[in-house]
Amino acid sequence: MRLALGVLGTLLMAACDSGTEELAPVSSTRVVQRPYLPAPPGTVPRGTAAQFAALAPPGPQRTPELVSRGHERFMIFCSPCHGVSGRGDGRVVSRGFPAPPTYHQERIRALSPAQIVTVITEGKGLMASYADRVLPEDRWAIAHFVKELQAREGASSTGRESAVP
Ligand code: HEC
Repeated sequence: MRLALGVLGTLLMAACDSGTEELAPVSSTRVVQRPYLPAPPGTVPRGTAAQFAALAPPGPQRTPELVSRGHERFMIFCSPCHGVSGRGDGRVVSRGFPAPPTYHQERIRALSPAQIVTVITEGKGLMASYADRVLPEDRWAIAHFVKELQAREGASSTGRESAVP
């Protein structure tokens, strides 16, 4: 059994090798690994080509289903800091974490969905990246939900009292 696993492992390792370059002759049966290159800042190291494509603007079409998925994901990943209405008054903030800016200020209202996706992917300032927790498609969903929050706030006459259903 152990031998069988060993052979299987060797075969798998051989299968992983692209076979495009010559291997240096080595006395052991181990395949020589190339060192990993450090990921440049701002990239998603574990990203596949498909993931990068999924992040390319304009992203998936905005549909009611996408926005409602975004609402659900926002409640899980963003509302703890940004608050359910995006005013920067989430639970975590009430426990001492620096308050994020409200989504309803001019500069953040001007962010496009693609720019919000970038903030989720790369993080910004004090905010960490959520790339390892939020799938690319869900980043678009959340971004569109944030735009919806901003639109609702802008449409309400008083602003402050509007509750998000
Ligand atoms: C742990 C708390 C926390 C969580 C969770 C969090 N954020 Fe933030 N976010 C912040 C803070 C703090 C800032 C302000 C960062 C700064 O300017 O230093 C911020 C800033 C932002 C900004 C404004 C960026 C700008 O241009 O100034 C956006 C947009 C944003 N967050 C979106 C999100 C979304 C979407 C999620 C959920 C996927 C999320 N955040 C989750 C804390 C958080």
